[in-house]
Amino acid sequence: MDFSNRDGRRDDSLLQGDWRVPGTGGPSFGRATPKPSLGPAALHLGARRASAAQERSRARELVSVAKEQIAATFEDVRFGRNINVASLWPMVSGITASVERHPGAIMGVTRMRDRHEHTYVHSVAVCGLMINLARRLKLDPTLHHDIGLAGLLHDVGKARVPTSLLDKPGPLTAEETAVMRTHCELGHDILIGGDERLSDLVLDVVLHHHERLDGTGYPDFQEGNSISTYVRMAAICDTYDTVTSDRPYGLALSPAEAIEMMTEQPGQFDFQIMSVFSGMIGIFPVGSMVRLESDRLAVVLDDPEGDPSQPPVCPFYCIVTKQALPWRVSPPGHDPIVGIESPDRWRMSNWREIRSGVLAQFKEGPFV
Ligand SMILES: [Fe+2]
Ligand SMILES: [Fe+2]
Repeated sequence: MDFSNRDGRRDDSLLQGDWRVPGTGGPSFGRATPKPSLGPAALHLGARRASAAQERSRARELVSVAKEQIAATFEDVRFGRNINVASLWPMVSGITASVERHPGAIMGVTRMRDRHEHTYVHSVAVCGLMINLARRLKLDPTLHHDIGLAGLLHDVGKARVPTSLLDKPGPLTAEETAVMRTHCELGHDILIGGDERLSDLVLDVVLHHHERLDGTGYPDFQEGNSISTYVRMAAICDTYDTVTSDRPYGLALSPAEAIEMMTEQPGQFDFQIMSVFSGMIGIFPVGSMVRLESDRLAVVLDDPEGDPSQPPVCPFYCIVTKQALPWRVSPPGHDPIVGIESPDRWRMSNWREIRSGVLAQFKEGPFV
């Protein structure tokens, strides 16, 4: 492993795991995992403004229940039972309300997931991103629920793909890729064969979310104007959430790297929707690595409540002393962010562990 700083000098302190200062990090923080139950707070449908902390708490509860419900939906599909779409509507309503109160809360909470729950949290994350994007694009509000449901169900066909492929710790072979790609048609078939008639919008997204404007997608090799606005939105939200997530193989990209990568894909994603999406993700997305004025590296913890350029952060490394730091929240503006940093530039091989550890600790509640 190479862990050098930007001057090319090797820094072994972060290789030893000693960034995890005793009592400030690690897997156990002495708090019980919240029991997933959908309380009235999570399902509150009003658009009342909430602080980031309040909404994060609600969003945690909501995501916890939503991922269990989508897991149960996948289980129904695996065992050949019809999907109970009506049972999903309250979830979509809850996520819509959360996005209306605080657009970034669901995005922040869904950044944390483990490998085995990836598909379910991904479904919830894409649902939240789609609703958020629909609002940004000022689409007809009466469509927001269908747009959210499309995000929630877009990968339901994966319930019929062998889990050995979904969890395979390495690249898929050509044959395995072909099997994986059937999930779009499988999902479409599952939904049109169900008891409840779903809208064309939902069916279109489920079938076509892997189509690309330049015709390089699948399953129908659609291109250009034949691809609907909703499918264009889904392609962006789905790809963004996939590449910024820890997967069985490969490092997740930071949100900023993902936006850069997708913007540089010539002709794949709708440029105008992409630029609205970039603005929605924000200047310093949750989970980004940033540099502070004090020459410390930090993880962005949450969306800003005030100044959009100064979200709460957790410094974890001092560039000057080359020492790991105890994890403490730096209040917004206390030590201003001077720019986003790339883990690659720092050759930080354990960045993924650092980010996951810091966000997991913050997820359990604010720490000081
Ligand atoms: Fe998919
Ligand atoms: Fe997906």
